[in-house]
Amino acid sequence: AEVTTDVRTDVLVVGAGVAGLTAALEAARGGRVVLATKTTLGEGSTAYAQGGIAAATGPDDVAAHVGDTLAAGAGLSSPAAAQALCAAGPAAVRVLAERGVAFDRSATAGAGWALGLEAAHSRPRILHAGGDRTGAAVSQALAEAVRRSDVDVREDAFLLGLLTSDGRVTGAEFAVGPARGGTRTLLRVHSGAVVLATGGAGQLYSRTTNPAVATADGLAAAFRAGALVADLEFFQFHPTVAAVDTPFLVSEAVRGEGAVLRDATGRRFALDADPRGELAPRDVVARAIATAMAGQGGTPVLLDATGVSAHLGRPFAERFPGIAALSAAAGLDPEHDPLPVTPAAHYWMGGIRTDAAGRTSLPGLWAAGEVACTGVHGANRLASNSLLEALVVGGAVVADLATGPGAASFPDDEVTGFPAPDRPVAAHVGRLDLQAALWEHAGLVREAPGLAVATKLLTPQEAPVELDADDLDVPRSTWEDANLLLAGQLLVTAATAREESLGAHFRSDHPTAPARPRRRSLRRTP
Ligand code: SIN
Repeated sequence: AEVTTDVRTDVLVVGAGVAGLTAALEAARGGRVVLATKTTLGEGSTAYAQGGIAAATGPDDVAAHVGDTLAAGAGLSSPAAAQALCAAGPAAVRVLAERGVAFDRSATAGAGWALGLEAAHSRPRILHAGGDRTGAAVSQALAEAVRRSDVDVREDAFLLGLLTSDGRVTGAEFAVGPARGGTRTLLRVHSGAVVLATGGAGQLYSRTTNPAVATADGLAAAFRAGALVADLEFFQFHPTVAAVDTPFLVSEAVRGEGAVLRDATGRRFALDADPRGELAPRDVVARAIATAMAGQGGTPVLLDATGVSAHLGRPFAERFPGIAALSAAAGLDPEHDPLPVTPAAHYWMGGIRTDAAGRTSLPGLWAAGEVACTGVHGANRLASNSLLEALVVGGAVVADLATGPGAASFPDDEVTGFPAPDRPVAAHVGRLDLQAALWEHAGLVREAPGLAVATKLLTPQEAPVELDADDLDVPRSTWEDANLLLAGQLLVTAATAREESLGAHFRSDHPTAPARPRRRSLRRTP
């Protein structure tokens, strides 16, 4: 590289969604912190979250929240991790409110927070801000707090890989500068602790609710460095993404306020799949939509929200201003027009294996937020538990890393080796082809022959070509493609191996659920 900069710090946080911003703020209370992000502070999936943050702020709600989390997770969730998360929820959202997030208040419940209802929650417990602009409110408040703090923020810093020494993570390397062209420099951050909060990988799929930055960068770097990754076959598909020129999420909270799904003939089909109808767990609703679409030549189904304002007693746009604005831009008014919707990739339950405090299997490395697999979400995440988890674990890692760099162990996981190079290699398949293959063969419904097609496409036929960290002319998308390819290979491997159906992982050739689901992890072998 033309210019290499070496920086030393106590804690390096990679990623600037709610997990990364929270970890950086907490760590800055006790030492030097570098926060690196591939674009700008706050850009990432957090900012697009609509529904809100699930937290047991209501009376006696912690046990019910744990129960709902475990039920959604279909028997694969860690009860201890779910208990830790739900118990920490009320205090964590209060800290967020102190950091400047103005959660919406209820007109009827005095000064109390307004609590929304989403699928598979036994009672309303979703805090929201700005109606359906919760994620934007959270990320803005935290980003402003970080800018006011002593955190050394490095924007446009793309993670190339982790630095290790004797099996211990000691820092990370970044290409800093514009995504393509312009001057870039190599930044090496040497750190006592590294926290990956790099988010998910919705860009694995042709249809996704995730922003363009969700390309598995942290997961791929951790896997190459030897970290265990787990539950990668479990990818959640959101049932309702508006099928318009610029697709956008239509929050489950809209169904929580009474919107219904209709097929092309106007029939309400969700009740055929589950007595809970539109508010059945997401995987059930998403598959019901896919079935209805298949029965009508693949065209989107309709989300009929025309009754929502009567249900709410106020205009749709007052409760859901973001969705109303995005609909208007597409020429639709949810008060009068049913919205065409399809399922889309939304949230990866799997990730870098961690304990409830975010500690990974590699000494010196922690992970928090969507990139991590704490085991809370099991086979299917409960709606609005992801911002909560990112918030709680983002804080918990900082308390935990003070206790020393040792690795966590996961004795109950079934661990399998996956041969892969320890450096990123150039993807032999284009991004659109990879996304199409995963959507088709490793999406809502999987079966062995399709998974075999995907495996073949993702397996290079020739010796892989390593990407060179010193060659800063390589466009960022090339690194992202390498990360997506590795993540796709791991996902398809995990989905092929699990010959049973559980939560979001539905195998049409193995439709029954196991009596005792077990967590499976993968580890790199040379
Ligand atoms: C939504 O608003 O429907 C998304 C909530 C979530 O994914 O947790």
